[in-house]
Amino acid sequence: MKPHVILNAAMTLDGKIATKTGNSQISGKKDLERVHKLRKEVDGIMVGINTVLTDDPRLTIHKIDSNKSDNPIRIVVDNQGRTPLNSRILNDDAETIIAVSNYAKNQDISLERCEKLNKLADIFYSGENSVHLKELMKHLYSKNIKTLMLEGGSTLNFSMIKEQLIDEIRVCVAPMIVGGKNAKTLVDGEGFNLMKDGIKLELKNRYQLGKDLILEYDVL
Ligand SMILES: NC(=O)c1ccc[n+]([C@@H]2O[C@H](COP(=O)([O-])OP(=O)(O)OC[C@H]3O[C@@H](n4cnc5c(N)ncnc54)[C@H](OP(=O)(O)O)[C@@H]3O)[C@@H](O)[C@H]2O)c1
Repeated sequence: MKPHVILNAAMTLDGKIATKTGNSQISGKKDLERVHKLRKEVDGIMVGINTVLTDDPRLTIHKIDSNKSDNPIRIVVDNQGRTPLNSRILNDDAETIIAVSNYAKNQDISLERCEKLNKLADIFYSGENSVHLKELMKHLYSKNIKTLMLEGGSTLNFSMIKEQLIDEIRVCVAPMIVGGKNAKTLVDGEGFNLMKDGIKLELKNRYQLGKDLILEYDVL
């Protein structure tokens, strides 16, 4: 069993989720409220380690009326236990799970980092050289995380798509273009060779929110 996974992201019209320097302030005020409402509905929010290192997100509900108890569990996919001890994702606003691979167990520096992180978060070990996402999904489900929001970044988005672990995609398309061949797009990673191998989607809803356009898809 696995949680129902919703990939949510904000991107520019040219598909970038950050500029080439990693700046990712894309959503308008109304979209931020939409995201925080969605956070309130789910049991967990997951991001990759590079998102933590670049954005230092809190991943809590703080843009709408809410209580601390509304905050979902936060999950970081972090192969080598590189989540900084002073990162905001480790504050006491919500529980945090850090998923690391077994590679971390065999590296003194990673093991030491994980021992320190374990005082602030739950550490889940799986996979050899990168986190085994299917095992992680099973673990999260066993922790009562039945709905999970995936909030990036592009590398983790691709791995989750490749493993067929995503059920829905919701994207905010902002009316901007930033370009840059090194700027992260909605989904990067290794990519598929042929169009026929790509995941297929069905558009189920679309609407305008302020200046932004919201697109909601089911993964077929
Ligand atoms: N606009 C938006 O909605 C939005 C949302 C989120 C993020 N972002 C942007 O996205 C950028 C970060 O994206 P990113 O692609 O660089 O990184 P990412 O997806 O946040 O993190 C990827 C890292 O996770 C670790 N990892 C461990 N196991 C993995 C697995 N099975 N599959 C994939 N990754 C695994 C790997 O790092 P190690 O091997 O080092 O552990 C990998 O390099 C930032 O610029 C951020 O601002 C934008």
